[in-house]
Amino acid sequence: MSGEGELVAGRYRLSSSLGRGGMGVVWCAHDERLDRLVALKELRTGLGTGDMAHEAAMARAMKEARVAARLRHPHAVTVHDVVTHGHIPCLVMEFLPSRSLSAMVTDRGVLSPGEAASIGSQVASALAAAHEEGIVHRDVKPENVLVTEGGLAKIADFGISQADGEDTFSRHGTIAGTPAYLSPEVADGAQVGPPSDVFSLGATLYSVIEGSPPFGEAESTIALLVRIVHAQPTPPRRSDPLTELLLAMLHRDPGKRPTMRQVHEELAAVADEHSAAESSSSPSSPSSFPPRHTLSSPTKGRTRVSSRTVLTGFVAMTLVSVGMVFGAVLNTGGSSDSPVALSTGSRCLAELQVTNRWPGGYQGEVTVVPENGGIVGWKVHWELPEGHTVSEVWNGTPSRNGTTMYVHDAGWNAAVEQDTTATFGFVARTRPGAEPSDPTLNCGTN
Ligand SMILES: Nc1ncnc2c1ncn2[C@@H]1O[C@H](COP(=O)(O)OP(=O)(O)OP(=O)(O)O)[C@@H](O)[C@H]1O
Ligand SMILES: [Mg+2]
Repeated sequence: MSGEGELVAGRYRLSSSLGRGGMGVVWCAHDERLDRLVALKELRTGLGTGDMAHEAAMARAMKEARVAARLRHPHAVTVHDVVTHGHIPCLVMEFLPSRSLSAMVTDRGVLSPGEAASIGSQVASALAAAHEEGIVHRDVKPENVLVTEGGLAKIADFGISQADGEDTFSRHGTIAGTPAYLSPEVADGAQVGPPSDVFSLGATLYSVIEGSPPFGEAESTIALLVRIVHAQPTPPRRSDPLTELLLAMLHRDPGKRPTMRQVHEELAAVADEHSAAESSSSPSSPSSFPPRHTLSSPTKGRTRVSSRTVLTGFVAMTLVSVGMVFGAVLNTGGSSDSPVALSTGSRCLAELQVTNRWPGGYQGEVTVVPENGGIVGWKVHWELPEGHTVSEVWNGTPSRNGTTMYVHDAGWNAAVEQDTTATFGFVARTRPGAEPSDPTLNCGTN
């Protein structure tokens, strides 16, 4: 692709480069059909066109992208489409205004364990859902975790991920994954499985807290692989209260690592404690709103379990949760993408569209439409159905009073002219057994 202004697949107009990775440039592009921004990633094979190996690699890239497109989760970058442009396959993804976790550490230094737990719990919730669908990411690393200004984190690049049953070393004879974050069994040539992602997420969190990956930086790839296979990780020094969990995730024996679902639970508990401590030490932080950008356990009054307890119980839990999640995905998968609630308030309408559902939650996008002329300042409120809580809001300022949820404009999107709209989004969690009913929204102006 040559660059800015170019039209890809008759539909995606390239606007600017977002960065470059191992497979080519990632572009910000305008989807002219749906009038929205997308991210477009080139999947270059490094082989000449017409070459049989190139055709095979392209077919494989397409297959991998289709695997990625199967997964829909609020903490995974959504894949919308796969297209080819001049024989180069391209992934069309949700555009997330963000920077990668590695860029974040470069810009502002290492993260505290609480901050890492908040980001890690979000990523772990997406990876757990993927594992429960039989998808392994295979390249979890700081570069593939995207974080917004407000702290919303999403895992990107299921591009080299595979459905169960394919191995890591088969891809063009090279290693699919990044050496510093590879698990010992994968570095030793074994089949990739969900525990390898657990290791890589452990290595990622270790690295952003400690400042370097558990086996250090590579003087050469081979030297690093040898160290991963034979050495013990450098003991972490700054990671308390995550040390026990990180060491469990980095366990040499994949069978002794916690599952991703258990990792999510543990990280969410630490993230909750961290944000509770932060709000009690800061008088200006809102006390009525649950911690932002953490997806904790749906069970009320959860107690924190130690990694040791997690390890002994995880086989039985995995069997139960895989069955439950499959059932729930099948039951709820068909109802997204249609407007489900529309109501009027003074001088504006608020339209809710549920854009994604998963067991235990859903993601909503709300469009605020001025009714007669433009508005300056808007506030949307709704009654939370029994068992529903809102855990994240973006492009809006949340507050809660009992069971009434309020979101008012984020300042920069307060003014909405006639014939234009403002949009905000949220993630809601639902307790097991809660009705999946969608709330009715009310819109008011200041
Ligand atoms: N969906 C997206 N929305 C916004 N920015 C993105 C998106 N996907 C990627 N980017 C940006 O593009 C940059 C390059 O991404 P890319 O995945 O190609 O690089 P990488 O992860 O370093 O390499 P690789 O994945 O090939 O190993 C990222 O650092 C990120 O800042
Ligand atoms: Mg990447």
